[in-house]
Amino acid sequence: VKKIIDYIASRKDIAATLIIIFLVIAGAAAYCVYGIYENVQKLQNAEPEDVTYFPTYPKINTQGKNSDQIKRGEYLVKAGDCAACHTNTAEKGPIFAGRLAMPTPFGTIYTPNITPDKETGIGGWTDEQFIKAMREGISPQGHYYYPAFPFYYFNKVSTEDLKAIKAYLDNIPAVKQKNLENDMAWPFNYRIFQLGWRILFFNRENTGPMPADPNQTAQWNRGAYLTGGLGHCAMCHSPSYHLISKELPLGAPMSTYSLTGAKVQGYLAPNITSLNFGNVSEQDIIDVFKKDKMVGGGHIEGPMLEVNKDSLSYLTDADLAAIAHYLKTVKSQLPPKPKMSGGPGKGIYEMYCSGCHAQGAGGAPRYGDPNNWTPIMKNGIEKVYLNAIQGVGGMPAKGTCLSCTDEEVKQAVDYMVASVKGKEAAAPVKILTAEDGKNIYNTNCAICHANGYKNAPIPGNKKAWQPIIDQGFVETYSNVITGKKGHIPHGACPTCSDAEIIAAMKYMLQQSTTSKSTNFRLW
Ligand code: HEC
Ligand code: HEC
Ligand code: HEC
Ligand code: HEC
Repeated sequence: VKKIIDYIASRKDIAATLIIIFLVIAGAAAYCVYGIYENVQKLQNAEPEDVTYFPTYPKINTQGKNSDQIKRGEYLVKAGDCAACHTNTAEKGPIFAGRLAMPTPFGTIYTPNITPDKETGIGGWTDEQFIKAMREGISPQGHYYYPAFPFYYFNKVSTEDLKAIKAYLDNIPAVKQKNLENDMAWPFNYRIFQLGWRILFFNRENTGPMPADPNQTAQWNRGAYLTGGLGHCAMCHSPSYHLISKELPLGAPMSTYSLTGAKVQGYLAPNITSLNFGNVSEQDIIDVFKKDKMVGGGHIEGPMLEVNKDSLSYLTDADLAAIAHYLKTVKSQLPPKPKMSGGPGKGIYEMYCSGCHAQGAGGAPRYGDPNNWTPIMKNGIEKVYLNAIQGVGGMPAKGTCLSCTDEEVKQAVDYMVASVKGKEAAAPVKILTAEDGKNIYNTNCAICHANGYKNAPIPGNKKAWQPIIDQGFVETYSNVITGKKGHIPHGACPTCSDAEIIAAMKYMLQQSTTSKSTNFRLW
């Protein structure tokens, strides 16, 4: 090595060339990182903007054509929710004419026009070109599409169904509207770089049309086909592979953790596998799609409301039942939870239970207090487990840890019970101060609450806060955590611990009441 270095040092021309090459590579890398950094900043600073425009499907021209196929195509297009992405909903643009901005960390993609206009749409495409685009993500010119186009999922759709979709798209009104240029960070504007993504995530798993599982019923297979194919549910509901941090998702679902939940556009798309739905009735799941009702109560909002309005609400009861039936059988591993150090039970306790149980908020038996726990333990541990899992009085089911398995909740109970047997030291939880509450509020809640976004009660507005004070702590807390009454679940802050959310609530209340003797004894 020394010899090589000496040689290079003696040859000034080689040294200069190497330095220049190094500087160019470093500069390019910095430029690329800076581009991504800017986009992530933009994404994080963007207000969660809910879609309120749900376009109506156009009249189809079936004259003298194979109208059965076209109508089937219409149904499949609804199942694939093509309208949600291929319509500029922000400006109430014409359906299927594209121009919706899809911001990603790597730049903004504008969806293309898929109406049958020959010049600006896909009117000139052959069936083969269309099937190649949908199944392989390759354009008629041979370019690679970005994974924001869910070809990863549409890959699983049968050829017959793809032909029906094409037949439908050929027979809707043509809209002449030129596509917008994408605005991607360098070097992602070069589509050839998608080859890396394809080798890593697509080619390996590219299995083509989904084969039926002969060991399952026809209903199960239908549910699996709709969920994994046109429905592309995993695009939002599965954790994605990511670069360095979760803020840089790569649009490729991790199959081990399929449908166990992920963050999407400021919302939490919950775990929709057997872990959450094993004991939920099929009807309750169907009500999510048809009545916009969360399984835990509360109203569906955000991206899922759009999925319901543009797509799932059009499906037949039989298909919705098939989806519900299938979801109830999905068995996935849970992704590792954050901050799980300290042995079983402790991590769950600190993250999900300590908010109420550390101080005994709302009548919760207090960690480490034998006076609270001894009477409860007289009922027998199995009964106590059951109460913790199903909820009792002011105790929400699983303490709102929807992703916790029964076993994990039991471990958290064991951890609390052990605290009064002298097996564990006193509560290890840091008591948050008023100053902490203010900081947590400013970082996580002020974005909506400071200016009353969507009627979020503004701290200091006593009239708005009185009814909230009157309804009591447990009710309010559970509204904020479970998303009842339309709040984004977990105070819209998935990374906050329960104790942090309570500290922020406490700060908000202190700004909004003069009376010390409120019903919020424990605030
Ligand atoms: C999650 C959003 C999303 C959904 C849902 C979606 N698409 Fe797209 N689609 C895109 C994006 C983004 C592109 C452009 C990708 C690119 O530029 O690399 C695209 C591209 C296309 C293209 C290529 C058009 C061209 O001019 O090259 C076709 C065809 C298409 N989509 C059809 C469909 C159909 C049919 C459906 C419903 C079954 C559908 N898409 C659902 C986002 C979506
Ligand atoms: C564009 C992203 C997106 C897509 C695609 C999507 N979902 Fe969702 N889903 C969400 C979000 C976000 C929520 C939470 C809604 C809320 O908090 O108001 C949700 C909620 C749900 C719920 C309610 C969960 C509960 O605990 O009450 C079910 C069930 C569900 N989705 C099923 C599906 C199925 C089935 C599909 C595919 C056919 C699908 N979703 C596709 C984003 C999505
Ligand atoms: C929203 C506040 C809140 C959260 C969060 C919470 N609890 Fe509770 N918990 C309560 C209240 C209130 C009670 C008393 C219920 C009653 O008896 O009315 C309670 C009671 C209990 C009991 C005693 C049940 C019995 O048999 O009487 C157990 C065990 C328990 N909680 C475990 C947990 C676990 C484990 C977690 C976290 C995964 C958790 N709790 C999270 C409020 C909470
Ligand atoms: C994305 C916007 C948004 C963010 C972020 C947000 N909230 Fe809210 N919040 C709302 C809206 C909207 C309401 C009124 C909804 C309703 O209850 O009708 C609300 C209501 C509340 C209420 C009253 C609930 C009730 O029972 O009436 C409390 C308490 C609350 N938020 C606490 C918090 C805390 C604590 C945080 C931060 C950790 C937070 N919010 C972050 C939008 C937000």
